[in-house]
Amino acid sequence: MAIKGQVRADGVRPRGAAGPAVKRSLATRILRKVRRDLRYYGLRAHTVWFAATRGVKVGKGTLIFPGARMSKIGGGTIRIGSYCVFHHGSLLATYGGDIHISDRVSLNDYSILYGHGGLEVGEGARIAAHTVVIPSNHGIDADEPIWMQPMALRGIVIGKDVWMGTGVRVLDGSVIADGCVIAAGAVVLPTLQTEPMGIYGGVPARKISSRIRSQDPS
Ligand SMILES: CC(C)(COP(=O)(O)OP(=O)(O)OC[C@H]1O[C@@H](n2cnc3c(N)ncnc32)[C@H](O)[C@@H]1OP(=O)(O)O)[C@@H](O)C(=O)NCCC(=O)NCCS
Repeated sequence: MAIKGQVRADGVRPRGAAGPAVKRSLATRILRKVRRDLRYYGLRAHTVWFAATRGVKVGKGTLIFPGARMSKIGGGTIRIGSYCVFHHGSLLATYGGDIHISDRVSLNDYSILYGHGGLEVGEGARIAAHTVVIPSNHGIDADEPIWMQPMALRGIVIGKDVWMGTGVRVLDGSVIADGCVIAAGAVVLPTLQTEPMGIYGGVPARKISSRIRSQDPS
């Protein structure tokens, strides 16, 4: 005989035996969903307010967490696609350049994307915590103080479906091809020739592997 709430030794609940355990788990699921929805719509409200007060274009479904910062210092623009996530402590700062973030990009805690010479981030890019992308260089001729020399501004392009591990540095003039993985702690120089789906790591970054597993590192 099926007793309410009883589960057989094989883990199957007999038909019609919807006991208190099931009701509790349904209530828990509903509560969790309500909590998730409240958090989502709270964050959306914060995002819309945040973007409106800073003149930043933001697509639908994007979430900017409290504690993320965006600054159009010295001019430039910030455009952000849909369904992106900007975590606490992350920073976008134009310094006169244009920053364009495509759809479904995530920027984790305390990562910094500067604009200077222009920055493009492709769809779906994942940028882990404490990464810095900086599209500018000071002039370093010996006959003039550094602060008096013009900055070099070449710009940086990060392809779509790129994953940058924690603590990566990307320097001015770099182009990271679609699908690349940049290993934690790597420094990407503009001289690095990246191929789609390559895995690059080290200081300076070199090819260490490939997402296409049959390819040897070269
Ligand atoms: C790059 C990564 C994904 C591993 O890629 P992989 O292709 O599986 O690499 P493997 O572990 O097989 O290592 C391949 C080679 O790369 C080297 N390598 C791996 N990670 C490295 C790193 N961060 N820096 C330098 N070299 C690295 C390995 O030592 C190995 O070298 P070897 O062939 O001389 O022994 C991983 O090491 C990494 O850096 N992950 C980032 C983690 C992170 O930041 N997470 C944040 C979550 S958002």
